[in-house]
Amino acid sequence: MFTKFPELGTKFKSQKTEQNSEITCSYYHANCTKVNNAPKLSNDQQKIIFNIIEENMKAHYQKSKRLPWDAQKKKEEIFETKMRFIVCFDNDKIVGFTAFMFDIEDKRPVLYLYELQVIKEYQYYGIGHFLMSLMEQTAKNVGMSHVMLTVFTHNEIAMNFYLKKCSYIIDSFSPSKTGKSGFDYEILSKKTLVN
Ligand SMILES: CC(C)(COP(=O)(O)OP(=O)(O)OC[C@H]1O[C@@H](n2cnc3c(N)ncnc32)[C@H](O)[C@@H]1OP(=O)(O)O)[C@@H](O)C(=O)NCCC(=O)NCCS
Repeated sequence: MFTKFPELGTKFKSQKTEQNSEITCSYYHANCTKVNNAPKLSNDQQKIIFNIIEENMKAHYQKSKRLPWDAQKKKEEIFETKMRFIVCFDNDKIVGFTAFMFDIEDKRPVLYLYELQVIKEYQYYGIGHFLMSLMEQTAKNVGMSHVMLTVFTHNEIAMNFYLKKCSYIIDSFSPSKTGKSGFDYEILSKKTLVN
């Protein structure tokens, strides 16, 4: 479907039956000037993206003892220079996105997924799964051995989605696997390259 990165305007027919929407996914950078032909997110797009995170995630952070909700910190994390985005549109409306970065974790080159968000009215129609397949394909195309992400253990829908729907596993680097207690999140991963 694409060479190294998802091309601007990658089309995806969602399973959304009522509107039969065609979702268009495009690749963006947070702050740098154009790289791989990816445009920078506009200020308005950044605001919408942050509002979606707040709407979907604030309650989960508020439940957490270790990671309290901190809007400023989240903004700085998510719009930092190296962050990349795939944003999904239904016409001009942003309906979902991923935010990710290439990194080294536990000596492995990984695509680290910082956010996967679908707005409420568009959830359960295949957009999240499609975005994860784009993440895995992108990781493979640029030579990252794994896709890795962090998820709250009390976020049951997301946990099920990653473990059952997308076949992720609890990574050996995750607190529960390293004998640490008192953590309310897991690190999940999926291998993208053979060996
Ligand atoms: C998790 C999330 C990204 C999944 O995206 P999505 O587009 O809704 O998911 P898809 O339609 O591609 O996949 C459906 C799967 O997701 C899960 N799921 C999605 N919505 C669900 C719901 N309302 N109830 C139960 N399971 C649900 C199930 O595992 C489902 O699999 P199934 O069809 O076998 O039951 C989406 O629910 C979301 O944005 N949630 C809020 C933000 C969040 O928690 N992000 C993850 C942070 S780590």
